[in-house]
Amino acid sequence: MSNPPHLLGEARLEVVVDDITTLRVDAIVNAANTSLLGGGGVDGAIHRGAGPELLDECRTLGGCETGGAKITKGYRLPAKHVIHAVGPVWNGGARGENELLASCYARAIALCRENNLTSIAFPAISTGVYRFPADRAAQIAVSTTVAALKAAPILRRVIFCCFSKESAALHERVLARFGEPCAD
Ligand code: AR6
Repeated sequence: MSNPPHLLGEARLEVVVDDITTLRVDAIVNAANTSLLGGGGVDGAIHRGAGPELLDECRTLGGCETGGAKITKGYRLPAKHVIHAVGPVWNGGARGENELLASCYARAIALCRENNLTSIAFPAISTGVYRFPADRAAQIAVSTTVAALKAAPILRRVIFCCFSKESAALHERVLARFGEPCAD
């Protein structure tokens, strides 16, 4: 399922309901943990889709701090790269959770700029087992991405790849504040 894209400068931003492992983009983002050695949820799906070579490369990365992101190849996935971002566990909101989640999106976009990647797809980081409230997370995801895109004009396509219609509606509502959907 997909909604009409929104145009922001040269970039198209869109919300889809899909399995992120099926998307043919320069990079899909993984909602990883600090070990970067795999897990459940979207992390498990990405490792299954990419095959064991992904874990081999992840073992060389030495983990990642919360709020950070590291890039690998995509191996057997249709996506060329995986950007492993580590979202915060929700602990009530007073432990820097908002800033750490924003940092995941900003760091992922910075990696696109550094690696000349033109398309990226994000899952709703931290909104699964890390229990970040979905509405607040969608607000942070979209507003941080819109702000970070200004410094990364190379990015032409950003997909918020949601796993439910409810999550997609939350992202779509925030995106609508940044511009009307375009016709095509
Ligand atoms: N495609 C797109 N989105 C998905 C997919 C998929 N294939 N599968 C799940 N989601 P979660 P977190 C959605 O729990 O909260 C792992 O064990 C899901 O519905 O995957 O950041 C890691 O190793 C939810 O909206 O990640 C960490 O230990 C969103 O992806 C921990 O979970 C994120 O849910 C990270 O927890």
